[in-house]
Amino acid sequence: MSDLTLDEYHYVMERARIIKRKFKEYQIYHPLIDRTLVMIFEKNSTRTRLSFEAGMHQLGGAAIYLNTRDSQLGRGEPVEDAGQVISRMCDIIMIRTFGQDIIERFAANSRVPVINGLTNEHHPCQVFADVFTFIEHRGALTGKSVAWVGDANNMLYSWLQAAQIFGFHLNISTPKSYEVDLSRIPKSQTNYTLFTNPSDACVGASLVTTDVWTSMGYEAENQARLTAFDGWIVDAAKMARAQPDALFMHCLPAHRGEEVSAEVIDGPQSVVWDEAENRLHIQKALLEYLVIGKVVSPD
Ligand code: CP
Ligand code: NVA
Repeated sequence: MSDLTLDEYHYVMERARIIKRKFKEYQIYHPLIDRTLVMIFEKNSTRTRLSFEAGMHQLGGAAIYLNTRDSQLGRGEPVEDAGQVISRMCDIIMIRTFGQDIIERFAANSRVPVINGLTNEHHPCQVFADVFTFIEHRGALTGKSVAWVGDANNMLYSWLQAAQIFGFHLNISTPKSYEVDLSRIPKSQTNYTLFTNPSDACVGASLVTTDVWTSMGYEAENQARLTAFDGWIVDAAKMARAQPDALFMHCLPAHRGEEVSAEVIDGPQSVVWDEAENRLHIQKALLEYLVIGKVVSPD
C-alpha cells in the first residue's frame, strides 16, 4: 500500500473510473496488447485470480497462472532465481504467497513490477478497491472514521497504511491475544484508536469492516479462534452504533453467523459485491499504470 503516493492513487482511481465505464459500455480497450501478466499463487483464490486474469484479457494482454504444485516453485527453486527468470519473460507479475519477505525477495530480483496479491502481512489490492468503493458510494474518506472488528490480519495492516495515505481514522477492535502488533505501525502514525469492545469501535464510523477469523495459513488455530472471537460478529446492533449511512464491507469469502450476520452482509448497508467487482476495475487501472505509465491523452 505504501509503495504508491496519494497522487498516484488518485490517478489510478481516475483511470479505474474511465476503464470501468468502458467495460460497462462494452467498449474495446486494448492498451496492453502483446503484454503478459504472470500470476503466482501459493494460496487459494477466487476473486484475485479472476479479476487479474479477466482484467489482463480485457486490456488486450495475456495472463499466465502458475502455482507451487506444478511449477518448480514448489520444488525448492530459490525465490531469487525465480524472480530473475520469470521477470525476463513477461511485463508484470502478481504474487499471492505466505510471508511478505518472499514477495520482497522476489521483487528485488525482478526486472518488472511485482504486485502483492495477498501475503500473511498485507492485502493492498483489496483495500485499494475498498477505498475506491467507499468513494464511489459516499465521497472522500478523508477525515472520516473506519471501524475494524476482528483479527489483526493482513487486511487490517493494509487498512492502517491506507489510513496514513488517505487521511482517515481507524477504530481497531481485536479480541484478547489477537491484538495489533504495535511494532508494525510507524511511531509517527497516530490516526488510529485501539478498542477492546467491538461495539465501541463502531461508534460514529462511516464504514464498518471485518474479515474471516482464520486467515489462510492459520487453519491449525481455527478451533481456538472460534472461541476467542465469540461475540465479535458484526451484527445489526453494532451497525446501529455507526453513522446512520455507514457502509459495511468484507473482502470475502465470508462466514455468515461468525464474523458477520446474514442480516448485515445481505442488508442495505452492505456493499460487498461492489467491493468484489471493483477489484477488476482498480487492478486493470493499476496494470495499465504499472506497465505503460500515465496515459498521455486520457479518454
Ligand atoms: N478477497 C479476496 O482476495 O478473495 P480471493 O481469496 O477469492 O482472491
Ligand atoms: N485475511 C484473509 C483474506 C482472504 C481474501 C486471508 O488472508 O485468508
